[in-house]
Amino acid sequence: MSSINDSLPVDENKISFGSEMSPFDQIALREILDGFGRKDLKILEIGSWVGLGSTQIFAEYCSILYCVDSWKGNLIPQHDNLIKRTDPLSLFNSNTEKFSKKVVPIKASSTIITEIFRPNYFDLIFIDADHTYNGVKQDIQNALPLLKKDGILCGHDCEGRVDESNKDIIMGNLDIDAVENVFPKFTHTHCGVVAAVSEIDLPVFLFSEKNEPWTILVDSQERMGLSTIWFIINELGSEKVFENSYAPVLVEELERFNIVLYRREYYGLPKWLGPIEVDTLTSDQLEDIDCIFKSYSLKEVKKFIAAYTDLLEKTNHLQAQANDLQKKLTEKDKLSKLRSFLRSIISSVQLQGRKG
Ligand SMILES: C[S@@+](CC[C@H](N)C(=O)[O-])C[C@H]1O[C@@H](n2cnc3c(N)ncnc32)[C@H](O)[C@@H]1O
Repeated sequence: MSSINDSLPVDENKISFGSEMSPFDQIALREILDGFGRKDLKILEIGSWVGLGSTQIFAEYCSILYCVDSWKGNLIPQHDNLIKRTDPLSLFNSNTEKFSKKVVPIKASSTIITEIFRPNYFDLIFIDADHTYNGVKQDIQNALPLLKKDGILCGHDCEGRVDESNKDIIMGNLDIDAVENVFPKFTHTHCGVVAAVSEIDLPVFLFSEKNEPWTILVDSQERMGLSTIWFIINELGSEKVFENSYAPVLVEELERFNIVLYRREYYGLPKWLGPIEVDTLTSDQLEDIDCIFKSYSLKEVKKFIAAYTDLLEKTNHLQAQANDLQKKLTEKDKLSKLRSFLRSIISSVQLQGRKG
């Protein structure tokens, strides 16, 4: 059994993805949203920019999506440059036109949410506006009461948690958008977001955290990466949130194998082993079963199955040849026994003749 090693590729600079959200952030958001198992969610997005990132995803899953943004941009050159050239709200409107019946832009500071929305209203609130520590902290505090009991609060740009090794650099950069090279897996770190999220007095989950089942994400081109999405589950367990995304699914049957997708990994399960409940076995137990292959890459699993099948055919062929040879040898053996038996009869007959 083989699996991916520990060396994850570094998430690329998000700008290179041509959107505010990397494909891995988009997958992470979809996994959270899929957990609801329905597409009539009431969603609040704080920070939408030109509506090409998170907005497009939320619009698919909502009955109503409120987008609160000052449309003044963040203190980063990309936003400044765009504002000099065009009006980001007009771009937002044209980019979300096909969802215009359910997407409601609200041009205001994010603090307005406490005044215009009633408590316990939203299924999901997403925070991706001002990335300074005070900005994020305030958005979190203001958003929590607006969430339903089984709602989810989540946000963008949290690359890790504050700890002894990074405390000084994080605490020294709370008021700027992002700095480089704090967490090795990411090119940039949003210190204000990391600090504010680390302080939340509720269990917070990070997609970027190692050893969580949701850490490694694979995009449609089978590139692996990490997401900076963080989330808080009000009264839902994390298993419940990912129940739909992580249930084992039969992807296809190939040769003498079933390919099953489970917790983002593909398993090549030999049919001759009978039914295998992947969700009831631990990784160690699966590890002990020979000829099960798992990988984050479907291509890799298919390659393994092809190689295994090829080997199996060659072995069977060799086995058939060996049987054949064995049979011939046995026949030859019988023949030589018969020959010596005949010879002994002939010589005894000859002896008898001579005697007679
Ligand atoms: C990083 S962008 C949002 C990107 C968007 N979520 C996406 O996926 O494409 C941040 C946005 O927050 C807005 N913003 C920043 N500070 C804000 C504040 N205090 N109130 C409202 N909007 C704010 C900016 O105008 C900008 O449009």
